Amino acid sequence: MAQPEHIKTIADDDPRYDELRTFIHDEKNKQGVAMIALQEAQRLFGYLPLEVHKFISKETGVPIAELYGVTTFYSQFTTELRGKHQIQVCMGTACYVKGAQKVLDKVLEVLGVEVGMTTPDRLFTVNAARCIGCCGLAPAMMIDNKVYANLVDVNQIPEILAQYKAQDRQDGLSE
Ligand code: FES
Repeated sequence: MAQPEHIKTIADDDPRYDELRTFIHDEKNKQGVAMIALQEAQRLFGYLPLEVHKFISKETGVPIAELYGVTTFYSQFTTELRGKHQIQVCMGTACYVKGAQKVLDKVLEVLGVEVGMTTPDRLFTVNAARCIGCCGLAPAMMIDNKVYANLVDVNQIPEILAQYKAQDRQDGLSE
């Protein structure tokens, strides 16, 4: 049976590849070049899909399997595109009976994504979680480490998300 084709998420002519090539070229003779190249690639792309592993393998001569060994061992690396903020909508029992599905639907509607997806601006990744440990405050969700509780009125959700967008714009301006 034919293997399903890998869908590239980074274009072959993405200029960040040139930057990475130059970086690898400068570091090539150093020990642990694979680790250094992966760190730089993670910084440039924000994650390490298959095509980036292939590129690094070609440029360094380190086999792809060996690169994946490093990527999967260290938690600083991720092979999935993840947003700056992680949203966990609790779908545990206490939250579910108090309307967690409505909360999740609202978050997805506002951000225009599906569960597990990252927004095109890479600001949010949305996940459905099991109990997040604050059942007395159901329905609840977390954004990064912050808990948002008593979300019975889902109309407060657009405002909550807008605060993160505004903060991100501000961070962008002050950088
Ligand atoms: S079930 Fe949602 S916090 Fe416990």
